[in-house]
Amino acid sequence: MLDTRTTPEFVSLAREHISPVLGLKAERAFVRGAGHRLYDTDDREYLDFVCGIACTILGHGHPTVTAAIHRQVDTLVHINGAGYTESTARLAAELSAALPDPLDTVFFSNAGTEVIEAAIKLARRVTGRPGIVAFRGGFHGRTMGSVALTSSNPNYRAGYEPMLPSVYHAPFPDAYRMGGEEEASRQALAALRDLLTNEIPGRSVAAIVMEAEQGEGGYRPAPASFLRGVREICDEHGILWVADEIQCGYGRTGKMWGFEHGGVVPDVVCVAKGIANGLPLSALITRRELQERWGVGAHGTTFGGNPVAAAAALAVLETIRGEGLVANAAARGAELRAGLERLQRADPGIGDVRGYGLMIGVEFVADAASKAPDEARTSRVLAKAAELGLLLLACGTDHNVIRWIPPLNVTSEEIGEALRIFEQALQA
Ligand SMILES: Cc1ncc(COP(=O)(O)O)c(C=O)c1O
Repeated sequence: MLDTRTTPEFVSLAREHISPVLGLKAERAFVRGAGHRLYDTDDREYLDFVCGIACTILGHGHPTVTAAIHRQVDTLVHINGAGYTESTARLAAELSAALPDPLDTVFFSNAGTEVIEAAIKLARRVTGRPGIVAFRGGFHGRTMGSVALTSSNPNYRAGYEPMLPSVYHAPFPDAYRMGGEEEASRQALAALRDLLTNEIPGRSVAAIVMEAEQGEGGYRPAPASFLRGVREICDEHGILWVADEIQCGYGRTGKMWGFEHGGVVPDVVCVAKGIANGLPLSALITRRELQERWGVGAHGTTFGGNPVAAAAALAVLETIRGEGLVANAAARGAELRAGLERLQRADPGIGDVRGYGLMIGVEFVADAASKAPDEARTSRVLAKAAELGLLLLACGTDHNVIRWIPPLNVTSEEIGEALRIFEQALQA
């Protein structure tokens, strides 16, 4: 039977029974999605540039993905322990093929945080070392292992001590606040070397975990020289480089993988979010030898690599390839960036526009000199844009960055439409 409750009624029902820990402030309730649009209970249409926090990378109800899900649901939903399934085996092979050599062996899970946990365990077991280094402003998940690496917001960590021991944080190169890309990269590499000399010797570090472009921390891209420098440091000390590609991977940055911006290959790659266009699926990929040394039974999962999610993921990869969506992300990203830079020139409250491909952050500050974060204006712009029919999301430690994560198959027309709405929201 059709539920005819209105948006305010659904919102109050949700508020009453869904955990307030999520902190959802929006006054909207959606009943359907089609392409790049979401529709609320009153059938009001919104251009969805939130994408379920970077998950519905092909939009809602993509016909190829939907058909693949239907086929798999009708055939086989779950096994485990009894054997392999066709879609999961094929996806492991396709994912390996989509990564540079020698990354060819996949461990599937469900969420991003699970593969970060897996990476921590693998790195410690395989190297026999305790240390894990992450970067300030990084986000790697919220479970008890991954949250020890996360430092994008003090609230994600407060009250959970003691955290996982032997986790260290180094500064991330912030070009906007550290004198430009090259200077930021130089300073951050020097600080990393200093940490590995004076706080924990490099020979005691199992892994360095990083995002090629920080997501929750404020859409801050790592300069190419920094990616190369981290690779060099890992090689010097026999440290495994874990690339957290959960938000910045899969075509998002105008290349299939964020780490490609440095022309380097990590030891461990973590993928989740958009991989199955909204179904829960994640993957950790390494060279075979590392997972052989991890050892049989050293880790496991009940639902990881579910055949339905895997079928969806195969359709996502096929669509990304077939429709040239990595190139589309680069081209549309350049258009979006040019449009946002034009708006920035007319608005002194926009301190910075940055990011690779279709992963662009717009940082709001009180003024160019102080660069003091302006969270209040950010919230007002977000609310106004939503009122005008464009859904966007904030990020950054101070919630003063608006992140642009449109679907990878976004069109020029939609970019133009979104920029027009954003301009109105800025002026309101
Ligand atoms: C870079 C990065 N790593 C890890 C995670 C954790 O993923 P999940 O929320 O699926 O556990 C996220 C989620 O936002 C992320 O952006």
